[in-house]
Amino acid sequence: MKENYYFDNAATTLPKPEPVYEFMDQFFRSHGVNPGRSGHQLAVEAETMIVQTRRLLAEFFGFAGDPARVTFSLSATDSMNIALLGLMQPGDHMIITRMEHNAVLRPANHFERDRQISVTRVAADQAGYVDPQEIRRSIRPNTRVVVVNHASNVTGSLQDIEAIGRVVRETNAILVLDSCQTAGVVAIPMDDWGIDVLVYTGHKGLFGPMGIGGMIVAAGVDIRPLRTGGTGVDSLSPFHPDGYPHRLEAGTLSLPGVAGLNAAQKWFADLGRARGAGPAANHGQACRVAQEHIHAVETGFTRRLIEAFEALPDVAVYGPRNNQPRVATLSMNIGDIPAEQVGAMLDADHSVCVRPGLHCAPLVHEDRGTLERKGTVRFAPGFFTDEEDINQAIEAVRAIAEY
Ligand SMILES: Cc1ncc(COP(=O)(O)O)c(C=O)c1O
Repeated sequence: MKENYYFDNAATTLPKPEPVYEFMDQFFRSHGVNPGRSGHQLAVEAETMIVQTRRLLAEFFGFAGDPARVTFSLSATDSMNIALLGLMQPGDHMIITRMEHNAVLRPANHFERDRQISVTRVAADQAGYVDPQEIRRSIRPNTRVVVVNHASNVTGSLQDIEAIGRVVRETNAILVLDSCQTAGVVAIPMDDWGIDVLVYTGHKGLFGPMGIGGMIVAAGVDIRPLRTGGTGVDSLSPFHPDGYPHRLEAGTLSLPGVAGLNAAQKWFADLGRARGAGPAANHGQACRVAQEHIHAVETGFTRRLIEAFEALPDVAVYGPRNNQPRVATLSMNIGDIPAEQVGAMLDADHSVCVRPGLHCAPLVHEDRGTLERKGTVRFAPGFFTDEEDINQAIEAVRAIAEY
């Protein structure tokens, strides 16, 4: 018997790989100084770790440009706001999808209401897939940005970003990817897919802690600084430096956060080598193998959950079917019981931790008729999920469905 059976990995992954905890603790104790500011040995070493993490993330995301264009922030929400506010101007048009998280929906809604920016919200089919041709049809001469959520945090549907990238590349628009539900689970070759701005969060599939996220900005894309302040460089200048990463970073970074990402990157590479990437594989290649393995493990759990849930009376599972491209996250409901009630029963009676509700993606529910049940019950297995978790989840849902 476990104390908890954790199925909330789409909200944040738990646990993290052991080296992440160890390195964060060790590095924060030994090098918990202000990097890039003071010039003493410890500060230089702390900065070296940060620079190395930018390089590791660049390789992880198939970005061959300058690693200084890998920037850090508080979270994906933070970076999405920095990116969109720094790109959009009054009179512009932007395209988003109806599968987006509020991290994208709300900035877009505010643009539309407050800044004379028009927004097209491209619909997805019932399984949650956006047709790249629908994005093509929505492009206008003044379309500045196209934002796409790589995988839905409600249904798990995985978009064909390569095809969307081809469409956007034919235009002057900038493709911004929300990689929150895929980074660490699905390899994202940023350059090959034509992604201009890749927004990531640290605490989900990248196995870092909360409080760290960021974005990678392709060469030729320039985002106006949203925040200005101290950077430790060019202090005499009255204005914020233009160069990356400082352009998009002001104030002291989360050193423990970056350390967590650093250790996690090395853990990915080790896993990839252990899974057959070979000692000669570079960081990006090894991490790709690791992500293929993680994806296979996680979606294997999802398949089992779906099979078991669908065999029960009155259980509805939303989103991709059979072998459609997906990540592990799945949404379901039991009869007409409100999602939050099912979530509360799973927690109180079975110690199963799920997330019920709208998952910050209201349009996904509007389009699937799940608003009346106040959303869905979301199961998100992770790489560290095990057989005991799966059995407990299935038994718990069976008990509620039969009751
Ligand atoms: C698809 C998607 N986008 C954006 C976010 C926002 O991430 P964060 O809360 O780390 O900023 C999330 C997190 O739930 C998400 O699932």
